[in-house]
Amino acid sequence: MRKHPAIIQGGMGIAVSSWRLAKDVAIQGELGVISGTAIDSVMARRLQDGDPTGDTQRALSHFPDVIVVQEILKRFFIEGGKDPKRPYIDVPKLIVKPTAFALHLLIVSTFVEVWLAKENHDGLVGMNILEKIQLAIPAQLYGAMLAGVDYILIGAGIPAQIPRLLNWLSLGNSITMKVDVEDTNDKYQIGFDPACIDGVHYPIKRPQFLAIVSSHALVSYLNKDAETKPDGFVIEYHVAGGHNAPPRAKNSTDANGEAVYSDADMPNLEKVVASGSPFWLAGGFGTPEKFVEAKALGAQGIQVGSIFALCNESGFTPELRSQVLSSLAAGETRVVTDASASPTGFPFKVIELDATLSEPELFAKRARKCDLGYLRTPFKRESGGIGYRCPGEPIDTYLFKNGEEEEALTSKCLCNALMADIGLGQIRPDGRTELALITIGSDLVGPMQLLARFPDGWSAKQGLNYLRTAQ
Ligand SMILES: Cc1cc2nc3c(=O)[nH]c(=O)nc-3n(C[C@H](O)[C@H](O)[C@H](O)COP(=O)(O)O)c2cc1C
Repeated sequence: MRKHPAIIQGGMGIAVSSWRLAKDVAIQGELGVISGTAIDSVMARRLQDGDPTGDTQRALSHFPDVIVVQEILKRFFIEGGKDPKRPYIDVPKLIVKPTAFALHLLIVSTFVEVWLAKENHDGLVGMNILEKIQLAIPAQLYGAMLAGVDYILIGAGIPAQIPRLLNWLSLGNSITMKVDVEDTNDKYQIGFDPACIDGVHYPIKRPQFLAIVSSHALVSYLNKDAETKPDGFVIEYHVAGGHNAPPRAKNSTDANGEAVYSDADMPNLEKVVASGSPFWLAGGFGTPEKFVEAKALGAQGIQVGSIFALCNESGFTPELRSQVLSSLAAGETRVVTDASASPTGFPFKVIELDATLSEPELFAKRARKCDLGYLRTPFKRESGGIGYRCPGEPIDTYLFKNGEEEEALTSKCLCNALMADIGLGQIRPDGRTELALITIGSDLVGPMQLLARFPDGWSAKQGLNYLRTAQ
């Protein structure tokens, strides 16, 4: 087995950790991670934009099942790109019993992103997905494995089933996975058969699996059983960008709607060290000094997000990136840990930035719509079937599905906003494009120090060199 890397470039959705970023980090000898979240929509929109660089089509030409690729190109590829005023065609939403096409699209788009990140070098590439988006997991694991992914990293939930799924898939076997369905005690599971591609069960390389957790208790819980034991852990502190684990204490939201953390939310690293599992520290560890400290604490190294989210190769549009960098330079950046913005129910870090959904008036003006639906939760309908609801959808619809009003009022449509962050925002019938919403860590020492060195922005390589300066 290859030596673990010391630096993990965090998986940042949606496609902020693009294949370009992950590839550059991997070439520099660290672990480059792509985000698999909503990658089917990302690929479908890149194809509708005409795939101007040809990268997606090049990767598609290496996918083992030509017929599957042809059906995808037929549905989404537009030579020369769509009319910029026309909306994108959506991909099928995730459901418990997906069509063959929907599964193929998930597998292929994940394959493409990993394949591109791994092209022409032998560095290490990982894929990050969210446990919360359960319905996509089996197909995405398989798509990533078909492209030879080296690591899978999963947080935002308790990823207890993943080691077993990876074992089975690597043997070429069909798998079943338990899924959470609300409003019932009934048990549900989804099945996945790798033979849906090419009619073949391939034995395939098993990637390493790192669970992203924020407490030592979860480390011991997952390590208890060989079936749930990951190959290592990323221990994420609550200053990290993206979603954070909810505070342990009840009523831990302040008057501004921010999650408030205390010492009880700090992981006990001695217990993590005692577990014997390799681990990386994340959340405010993106400086040379914190990298040294992490190693002294017994970690393999660090997982870093914010400095890569703001580097030249990140998926954020250049306009949004420079807006954030200007606010950093002016010392005006305010990051809040919004307890209720995310439909997942997890606190979510948000930068207060002009012309984004972080502005209450703009949020209030947005017509609610749930047309991507990655964060929908399955629930059992009174009639017996399975329904899907998201607190970000129109409030009446959510209430009709027995959702709670309080949850819905402040919930933002992260799916559409995060697509807008990477320049793939949906166009609405009135001609408006969906607004962005930017997440970043609340410890910005690393980005500030890099900005002082590189006022016009930095590359992933410069970010890595900076992190290694105290080694
Ligand atoms: C823009 C952005 C998006 C993120 N998205 C995800 C994600 O989709 N999944 C995930 O596990 N972590 C996500 N994270 C967390 C990072 O992977 C990483 O753990 C974290 O940023 C480390 O803390 P730092 O920001 O202080 O470096 C995100 C972070 C940022 C800044």
